[in-house]
Amino acid sequence: MTDTPRLAPDYPVLTERLALRPIEKERDLPAIHAYRSIPEVCTYVPFVPSTLEEMAERFADPERTRSVLDAQAEGQVLFTVIERRDTGEVIGDLVLFWHSDADRHAEVGYVIHPDHEGQGYATEAVRALTDLAFDHAGAHRVSARLDERNTGSARLLERLGFRQEARFVDGEWFKGEWTTLLVYAVLDREWTVAQSSRR
Ligand SMILES: CC(C)(COP(=O)(O)OP(=O)(O)OC[C@H]1O[C@@H](n2cnc3c(N)ncnc32)[C@H](O)[C@@H]1OP(=O)(O)O)[C@@H](O)C(=O)NCCC(=O)NCCS
Repeated sequence: MTDTPRLAPDYPVLTERLALRPIEKERDLPAIHAYRSIPEVCTYVPFVPSTLEEMAERFADPERTRSVLDAQAEGQVLFTVIERRDTGEVIGDLVLFWHSDADRHAEVGYVIHPDHEGQGYATEAVRALTDLAFDHAGAHRVSARLDERNTGSARLLERLGFRQEARFVDGEWFKGEWTTLLVYAVLDREWTVAQSSRR
């Protein structure tokens, strides 16, 4: 059995305009709180607006700031912040769920500060995270789940080459109402084609 981690990115992971790096609790808390406490940001995601204190309490759990996936990573979740390279501001965060060692299935999640929407930053960040999942963690399938009303998120995934695989009508009782859940995914071989046709 090998102890080589499933995914230990060489941080910071740089893209054209962004740096992805581990969450540093004290340093990043105010910036993360700034967007995660905005009600509109929370509409389609599982979390609710929280206070700085609640968020600090959550970050006290080392699993909530995990930045490496172990060799046996099933059930582990990797987090990074998204930093703008030009200003150094933290403008969002990413999450990578490693669902299954056998199926090599990962899932991406993403949040961007509304002040920085509409400029392709989330697309750029999710592309880099998906690259890590395929090229470094050896994923076979990367998926994303979203509320059907979250059209900006669906556009982001389609831009990157994810396919809609499922639509669960009223599939979830979510924040006090039935919501229709979409599942998007991309396979390793599809990702290679989608990325090479970009270049
Ligand atoms: C979902 C979410 C990340 C989408 O943010 P976004 O800003 O629309 O996504 P991007 O940063 O990739 O920007 C894409 C937009 O910028 C435009 N854009 C401008 N410059 C661009 C560039 N260089 N590259 C790509 N897109 C660019 C695109 O055309 C696109 O606009 P459109 O959607 O109107 O066509 C954001 O709304 C969010 O964080 N919401 C709250 C949390 C959430 O719902 N997360 C997803 C859970 S499933």
